Formats: sequence, structure tokens, C-alpha cells
Amino acid sequence: MATGISVDGQGLSDRLAALASIGAIEGTDGACRLALTDEDRAGRDLVVTWMQDLGMDVIIDGIGNVVGTMAGAEPGPPVMCGSHIDTVRTGGRYDGNLGVLAGLQVVEAVQKAGLVTRRPLAVGFFTDEEGSRFPPDMLGSLVYTGEMALEEALDIVGNDGAVVGEELDRIGYRGPAPCPSPPPHSFVELHIEQGPILDTEDVVIGVVTGVQGISWTEITVAGQSNHAGTTPMHMRHDAGWAATRVAVFVHELAEEFGPPQVATVGRVELHPNLVNVVASDAVMTVDMRNTDDALLTEAEDRLAAFLEELAAETGTGITSRRLARFAPVEFDPAMIDRVERVAAELGYSHRRLCSGAGHDAQMFAPVCPTSMVFVPSWEGISHNPFEHTDAEHLEAGANVLLRVMLELAEVVEAPQREPTAEVSA
Ligand code: GLV
Ligand code: MN
Ligand code: MN
Repeated sequence: MATGISVDGQGLSDRLAALASIGAIEGTDGACRLALTDEDRAGRDLVVTWMQDLGMDVIIDGIGNVVGTMAGAEPGPPVMCGSHIDTVRTGGRYDGNLGVLAGLQVVEAVQKAGLVTRRPLAVGFFTDEEGSRFPPDMLGSLVYTGEMALEEALDIVGNDGAVVGEELDRIGYRGPAPCPSPPPHSFVELHIEQGPILDTEDVVIGVVTGVQGISWTEITVAGQSNHAGTTPMHMRHDAGWAATRVAVFVHELAEEFGPPQVATVGRVELHPNLVNVVASDAVMTVDMRNTDDALLTEAEDRLAAFLEELAAETGTGITSRRLARFAPVEFDPAMIDRVERVAAELGYSHRRLCSGAGHDAQMFAPVCPTSMVFVPSWEGISHNPFEHTDAEHLEAGANVLLRVMLELAEVVEAPQREPTAEVSA
């Protein structure tokens, strides 16, 4: 009986648009709501209001994670879905937001159909998934599941000098609920793929088997600023040159290793950053990922050895700091099978794939049965305001989420008469 209900696709698109209007990037569908900024606060307030309008019990924990729960017929750990609503500076409207707002559509559909589940249904959004302002990424879910101590997380200093605990207080989202929280019964995250596979192959649902390993390093080069015209090349201590060499090295390393190894220098700051001055300092980041942890470790070792040689060759001092390190994660086989079966039963084309991006779900995988559902990203574009997913694919993903959550939560009561809205059977 529960299988006939579906989410309100238009309602999902409307909520995505409303949330994207906060921190909107002009001329695009995207938004900028870096973690714990005023824009993040406004986005949080809107989603909390929606949760309250649905009659959900909303709790906020010490790292600012927000979980809305709809009671089940019995108390106990909820079947949880969720994701994040913070964005990178050049964010699209779907990354993270989809998994949270689709969760609200699930709750709304269940309520409209008059269904009662045995287990509670919960929707969470987790602080600073992006890690763009406060590394590491997935910070909120890391603390939620007990893999980082709350005190350690509150002391993290962002790349703008702000401190997590102070920013949480400033925006009013340091809540009383304890961290770590008791694990949910199970966790399912709907997310856009953020890569090209589903779009290229014209497949609607990605059945996610796991997440590749992630290594983030911040590298600082200390050289000497000097005159760009008068300083002979052999007398320079050029931090700009050293930073460029690092970027070339990691790119070539990824090519040497071959797929799925990837490497990115996403941030380089030179000082004093002037046309006619040899740079005295460089601060840069390296993001490397691989599904094979041994290969990822080898890449890290190769980079460390290269930095030593480079310091000697360029006459600079080079130090590095680990910003994030997550081993590859495999999701629960039964949860993967369930997502796959539900996608098939709903008539959606589907395929298995491993996630290239990091996700809150990977933090839940060690504490409860976890899986993810992907929908296509137009041309594989993400972390870009032009990120796009067709409305019909958003709806398809949300319907898979709905069915999976209802199975896990077990429907115990359904209306005797024909329900009023969004129910087809
Ligand atoms: C998180 O979005 C990441 O994969 O960097
Ligand atoms: Mn995301
Ligand atoms: Mn992201």
C-alpha cells in the first residue's frame, strides 16, 4: 500500500529555489552559503521553519547539526536521511540541499498519505560538510558520529581566521543536544552525482557503493621577496615558482597513477602578490583522492618526498599540514541492494557507482547501515553555480529515497479510505 505514494516534485523544486535565493549568485541558479556565515544562518532558519511547519521535533547539537524528527508508532532510533545546506563559494543549488529538502518532501508525502511508520523518520543537515571555510569537510557529521571530539571541532580556525565555536555562537546555532549523538537505525543520503557518469550514460539513479578516500594538505612555502627585474634567477628564493612546481607535480602524479587517482590544487595565495616582486610566501592546498587507500598513501608519500627536494632546489622553506584524511568507505551491502531493488521496482534505469565526492553518509557508515542514492548532474558539473539536475531526476531520486525510508521504517498504519493527495494506489 505504501508503495503507491510519491513525493511532490514541484514542491521539491520550489523549496530548492527558495533556499537558493539565500546567498544567490547573480545571473545563475547557484548560491554562496559558506559554513557559519550570515547566509548559512538564513538558510538554516528557513529549513528549520519548514521542519517546524511539518510538525517535526527539531534539535540542534553542540556543533550546529540540526535534526528534525517525525515520531513513529514506537520510540527508538529513527530512519534518518539528510545531507548539508552549506555550500562552496561557487555553489550550485543542488549539492547537499537536495538530500535535505527531499527528506522534507518524504515527510510531507507520508503525512499527506496518512501513513504511520513503526520507526521515527528523521531529516538532518550537518554543519560544514564542504570544509571550504573550516577544514576538514564533513565536520558536523564527523562530530555527530563521534569520530572527532566536539572540543577539537569548536577550536578549528577557518581560512579567514574565524573560529568554529565563536561563529556557531554568533549565528545562534550552538545547540544543547549532545555530541556524539546516538546512532540512527539507518541512514540514506540522496545527492547529485557531481560527476559525468549518469549523465553520459543516460541513467537516472546511481546506486552508490561507497566513497573514495580523501587527502587534503595545506602547504606553506617561505621564500624571500625581491625585485623581479634585478634579482638573478640563481639568487632567488621564489615561493611562486615553488608553488607552481607543486601544482605541476601533483597533476603529473595523478596522470602517472591513472584513474581513479585525482589531484587538485584549488587554492594558492601568494604574498605580496605583485607583478614586479618575487613572491616571499605561498600558501596552497592539495586535494588528492583514490578508491585504493594504499595508492592514496603512496601518492601522499611521493608528494612529501618531492616537497623536500623542492625546498632544497628553490632555496625555500616548505612545511605542510594535514587538513583532512578519510579512508575509502564501503556502504552496507544490504542497503545497497535495497536502493538498487527499489530503483528497479520504480522503473528507473540505474547502475552502481562509487562516489568521487565526500559525503556526510560516509561518516554514518561505521555507526549504522548506510547507503546513498545519486541522480545525474548535467555534464558532470558541480561546485559551480551552473550545476544542474533535471526536475524529473530530482523527483525520481526523492521517490527512491521515500520508498527506501518507508521500507526501513516499516509502515504500520495506512488510511482505510482513499487518501487525498499525492497518492496513486
Ligand atoms: C565535498 O563536497 C568534497 O567532496 O569535497
Ligand atoms: Mn555535497
Ligand atoms: Mn560539495
